[in-house]
Parts: sequence; C-alpha cells; structure tokens
Amino acid sequence: MSPEAIRSALGARGVEWPEPVEWFESVGSTNDSLRERARGGAPAWSAVAAGWQSAGRGRQGRSWISEPGNLHVSVLLRPDPRTSVALLPLLAGVAVGEAVAEWGVQARLKWPNDVVVGERKLGGILAESSSSGGSIDHVVLGIGVNLVAPAPELGAIATSISVEAGRAPSAWDAAGAVLAALRRRCNDRTLRDPAAVVALWRERSVDWWGQSVEVVSGATRIEGRAEGVDASGALLVATGSGTIRVLSGEARALRLAPGRDPEGRA
Ligand code: BTN
Repeated sequence: MSPEAIRSALGARGVEWPEPVEWFESVGSTNDSLRERARGGAPAWSAVAAGWQSAGRGRQGRSWISEPGNLHVSVLLRPDPRTSVALLPLLAGVAVGEAVAEWGVQARLKWPNDVVVGERKLGGILAESSSSGGSIDHVVLGIGVNLVAPAPELGAIATSISVEAGRAPSAWDAAGAVLAALRRRCNDRTLRDPAAVVALWRERSVDWWGQSVEVVSGATRIEGRAEGVDASGALLVATGSGTIRVLSGEARALRLAPGRDPEGRA
C-alpha cells in the first residue's frame, strides 16, 4: 500500500491532490504526525493516513481505539481569518456522510461531531487548531471511520461499513472517498457562509429537533429541548430558564417521561 493508492482513489473521483499525502501501516496518531508536519511548514491540504493507530485520540481527551483496516486520516487546513473554524468539523461530518453513501450507508450526524447509523457510532471527527499571534495558524482535522467489524465488546455502541453494507472498502479507497468529499465541501465560499454550513449539516443530522435531550458538558448537565445549531456550531437547548448555547459536550436524546414536556416541565 502506498500514498499512490490514495491518489488514484482521489483521481477516480475526479479530484486532484497536489499536496503531500502520506500513508503509514501504523502510526501513533495521524493528528499528531500531521501537527508535526504543520509546525514544519507543510502546506494546507497535506494529509496523513494510517491503517492503524497505537495512540489514536478522540474528543474530550479520550482514546480512539480502532481496529486495523479502519480509516484513520488527518488533513491540514490553514483557514483564512474569514473562515468559521468552529464549523469545520460540521462540514467534515457532511463530507463523511457523503463519502459513506458511496457504499450505500445512510449515516446521520450527531452533535457535535459523531457519525452514526441509528444509535451506533460509525465514525468521529477530532478538530485541533493552533493559533499564533491571536489568529488561527492551522487546523488538523482528524477523521476516523469504522470500515471493518467492530471489536465484539463495542458491538452494542459501534457499527462499521462492513456491518451496514455487507462489505468493507479498503482504507485507501475510503481515504480517497472522504478526502474527495472534504475537498469539494471545504471551499472558501462555503466556509465563509456559516448559515450554509449549518444548513448542510442539518440535512444530515439526527432528527431530534424539538425533542428532549440531555447534554453533559464538563461537570454540567443540561436537559431541555434541542432547538438547533447556531452559526457558531453551538447546540441550542431550550430549558425552563431560557435557551442555552452549548459549545461542547456529549448529547443524547431522552425518552420523555409520561406527563412531561420536552423542556422537562411536568
Ligand atoms: C471522536 O469521536 O471522539 C473523534 C475521533 C477521531 C478519531 C480520528 S482517527 C484519525 C485522527 N487521529 C486521531 O488520533 N484521532 C482522529
């Protein structure tokens, strides 16, 4: 396997990728490798992909444990000051949703950055930005998608392309599909139009709008009615004491207790 396989998967989808693309059979974390390249001056759209990660990272300081053969890819962006950086992961989710549709998988996006089929997680996105002199220098967008069957202990909470579609694409073909969709979506015009990004994301999001949700953000737990996502990517939750903008956390839909409205009032 070589980066040429990814380039040829990109070419098959009509996308030229002149910037560096690297492939490793195994790496600590593709985000960490790419961050090193970024500090060394690598150009925007440099990409690092790997068949396995020994120290994969997820959101909120968690580990990302993933089977060999899954997709692990990171892309370097150097957004200009007009870009809504907080919306990049949402747009990346849209791209992943489009890419996996190639294999007939209809994934939905769950705030903030989960890619799910039903209740099970198919993939996730970890965006890490670095600033200098008060402005964003670069963003490393890391994407993981389960291609092969999840480990048995994760079967209840995780799914994969092979489970959903009956066959797993190769990691480099999946890398080509995801990178091609990302490149098409992350163009300057869309990135400067927060409402357009949110609208694209909402078309693919889980349909829990107007429903009761619980969001855990650090030590805070919020229960209320999910209203939408604003132009900065924050989740809007209507509670008895007003609408709260949640910037980060874990959200899940709640089944309403009989006799309660979506804001939790009896
Ligand atoms: C999450 O849902 O918590 C985000 C998971 C992101 C995993 C990807 S795999 C490629 C890149 N490298 C990492 O170490 N993490 C991201």
